[in-house]
Amino acid sequence: MKYLVILFMLLLSLGKGFAQSGLIPQPVAFHRSSGEFLLTALAGISSEPGVSAELVNLTQEQIRSYAGFTLPLSQKKAAIQLKLDSTQVPQNEGYRLRIHSRGVELVGHDPAGLFYGVQSFVQLLHQSKNLRLPASQIIDYPRFSYRGMHLDVSRHWFQVPFIKKYIDLLAQYKFNTFHWHLTDDQGWRIEIKRYPELQNVAAYRKETLIGHKRELPHRFDGKKYGGYYTQEEVREVVRYAAQRHITVIPEIEMPGHALAALSAFPALGCTGGPYQAATFWGIFDDVYCAGNDSTFTFLQNVLDEVVELFPSKYIHIGGDECPKTRWKSCPKCQARIRHEGLKDEHELQSYFIQRMEKYLLTKNREIIGWDEILEGGLSPGATVMSWRGTEGGIEAMRQKHKAIMTPEPFVYFDFYQSLYASEPTAAAWYTPLSKVYSYEPVPDSLTAEEASYLLGIQGNVWSEYLATEAHAEYMIFPRALAVAETAWSPKKGRTYPDFLRRLRLNEPMLKRLKVAYATCLMN
Ligand code: ACM
Ligand code: ZN
Repeated sequence: MKYLVILFMLLLSLGKGFAQSGLIPQPVAFHRSSGEFLLTALAGISSEPGVSAELVNLTQEQIRSYAGFTLPLSQKKAAIQLKLDSTQVPQNEGYRLRIHSRGVELVGHDPAGLFYGVQSFVQLLHQSKNLRLPASQIIDYPRFSYRGMHLDVSRHWFQVPFIKKYIDLLAQYKFNTFHWHLTDDQGWRIEIKRYPELQNVAAYRKETLIGHKRELPHRFDGKKYGGYYTQEEVREVVRYAAQRHITVIPEIEMPGHALAALSAFPALGCTGGPYQAATFWGIFDDVYCAGNDSTFTFLQNVLDEVVELFPSKYIHIGGDECPKTRWKSCPKCQARIRHEGLKDEHELQSYFIQRMEKYLLTKNREIIGWDEILEGGLSPGATVMSWRGTEGGIEAMRQKHKAIMTPEPFVYFDFYQSLYASEPTAAAWYTPLSKVYSYEPVPDSLTAEEASYLLGIQGNVWSEYLATEAHAEYMIFPRALAVAETAWSPKKGRTYPDFLRRLRLNEPMLKRLKVAYATCLMN
C-alpha cells in the first residue's frame, strides 16, 4: 500500500512536470505536445508587416547571446515567425506561442505582446538541453496593466549600465514600468539645465553614515558622495526602456524629502537655511515652504524639463513623509493656510499637491503620489501608491481613484530576506521570498467595481543600505520574480512550491546574466 501511494505521488508529480512550463511568470495556459524543435544556425527568422525591425533585431540579439549564432533574416516564412494579430490574441499585451517540430510561431496582440512572447521563448531556450525545445503551445496575457519595480538612486546611485541591466531583467520577467526615484534628501540625481546648482550642489552630500541608523552614536565615512544623470543619459535610459516595453516614471519628491534641493536653494525652505544634503537616513523636518510662491515656480520649472525627458502618462511627485513642523511655525505657510481657507497643515499639503497636479495637467500628465496624499483631501485625478500597508490603496479605490499596491510588509526589498546571521545590514524587518509571493493585491473588502481601480503592483528598492550594484541585485533577486508573477499570472492555478520549482529552472539564466541573486532562498 505504502509503495502504491509513493508510486501514485511520483506519477502525479511527473504529470505535473509535463503539464507545466518552467516559465516565470507562469503563463495563463501551457500545453505540452509531442515532438521537439531543434534550434540551429540555419533557422531563419521572418516577420509579417507591422512588426518593427527593432523587435526583430532585439529577438535576434537575445537568441544570439544564448545560442551563440545570429538567426538570418528571411523574406519567406521562416522557422521562427513573428506576427501581430489582435483577432487571434484579443488581450492587451498578450501573445500566443506555438513551438512544434518544424518551427516557432509567435503571434502578439500588439508589439508589447509579441515582445513578451519573445521573452518566454528566450526563457525556455535557456532551460533547453542543447537548444532542443519540447513542442508546446502557450496562451498568455497579464493580470494587471501596471507591473512595476522601483529604484531609489538618491541614497546610493547606480550608473547607467546598471540601470540598463535592471531594465533588461525587468523586461525579461514581463514588468512594464520602472519607477525611478530621482530626488531625495541625500542627493538630487537628474540634470535640470535651468538650475546648475542642482548639479553642482544638490547632487552631492558631504559624507555617508556607516552602519545602521539605529547604531548610535552615528559614524560617518568622511567621503563626499554623489553624482547625477545627464539629460542625455536620461534620454538614453528612457529610449532603451521603451524598446523593451518599459515605461519609465520619474519621481520628483515634494513637499518632503527635499533637503538636497534646499541645500542649493535655501530660500525655498521655511527657515531660509542654511541646509545640507542629508548624510544619514530618516525623515527630516526641513521641507519645501508651501507659503512661498517661488517654491512652486522652481518645481514647475523643474517639471517643465522632466516632462520633456519622460513621455510617461504619469509623473510621480512623492508626497510621503512630510513633517509639518516647519510649516506650523512659518509665517508664510500660516498666511497661505489663512488666505486659502485651509483647516490645517494637512490641508496645506493637499493644496501643495493639488497645485502641482493642476500644473501637470496643463502638460497632459497625471500625478502619482504615495498614500499620504490622501491626508487633507486627495487631488482630483491622483493615482495613489499604497505603501504603508494596503489601507491607502483601499481608501483611494473607494473614492474612485486609481491605486497601485506597494505595501511595505510585502514588497519592500530593503528588508531582510533570510534569518542567517550573515545577511548584510538591511533597513528592517523580515520579508522572505515566500511572504512576497503570498501577497494578493486585490483586497477582499472591495466591490468588483471598486477593485477595478487597481492598476497593479510594484516592488520598491530603497537604497540606504545598498552601496553596490551586487548588493542591490542580491536584495532585488529573486524577490522581484515573485512580484512579476503576482503582477502577471492569474491568481488561480499557481502555487509557491511550483514557483520555487520554476525558480530553480531560472537559475542558470540568472547566472548567465550575471545576476548576484540571493542563493540562500533557493535551498
Ligand atoms: C516610502 O517608503 N517612504 C514611500
Ligand atoms: Zn513655510
